Amino acid sequence: MATIQRLAKQAFITFRTKESPTFASNLEKLKNLLDKLTADDINLSLPNEQLDAIVPPTREAPVSHIGIYECPYFSMGVFIIKKGCEIPLHDHPSMYGLCKVLYGKIKVRCYSLSSDGNSEAVNGTVKQKRAIRCQVMNDMTYDSSTGSCVLTPMIGNYHSIHAVPGPTAFLDILAPPYAPQEERDCNYYKECDQMVRQKHNFNTVSYFILEIVFLISFLSLINTVKNYPNWDLFELINQKSVKPDRIDKPIKL
Ligand SMILES: [Fe+2]
Repeated sequence: MATIQRLAKQAFITFRTKESPTFASNLEKLKNLLDKLTADDINLSLPNEQLDAIVPPTREAPVSHIGIYECPYFSMGVFIIKKGCEIPLHDHPSMYGLCKVLYGKIKVRCYSLSSDGNSEAVNGTVKQKRAIRCQVMNDMTYDSSTGSCVLTPMIGNYHSIHAVPGPTAFLDILAPPYAPQEERDCNYYKECDQMVRQKHNFNTVSYFILEIVFLISFLSLINTVKNYPNWDLFELINQKSVKPDRIDKPIKL
């Protein structure tokens, strides 16, 4: 079985049984598999250094997305960020997110909802609020030799991803997938100037207020690649002993 197939199968098992006591160990298994993923495993060609040394013109899409697979439990795709570009501060409400750098380097800046009750969060989703209070986490950098980045509904769910300096590519697993009809839509945010410092267990903790920004959706700036191979993940998952309630066909972009 190819690495990408093992990864898809483990993602399926992990997120289909999210409520079970085995979820934490399944998530750990998924992370371990993802940590080992390389660009070669998904036939992703490395960037042309001469071409990519040029900062893209502003009208060119800063980010490309290659959809690999989507079912009711998770989606899997590759993001490629051009030199000097970024995916701005956004969230994955009530979702898990795992990403593994395939080439280049990224800096991830994460915020977690403050746990003091002011955020009124339910499973990582803040309802009917245009501003939320978050605690900033340490910036983390990842490249192809480091492990994957894991975000949960409550930890690091608000984040921006910067190419350092780029280009960079990473594989992304989101679970469950975005579904605006189920209140899992992506919002974009800006960090406000207001910063509150409070004593917490003898340490000073910094909080930021993040405000939703109604810019043109960043997704409209994403170039979607349409000719990626299909690994028959649908057939693979369907043949296994774990029978899905419903599995959509793989995305054929
Ligand atoms: Fe994200």
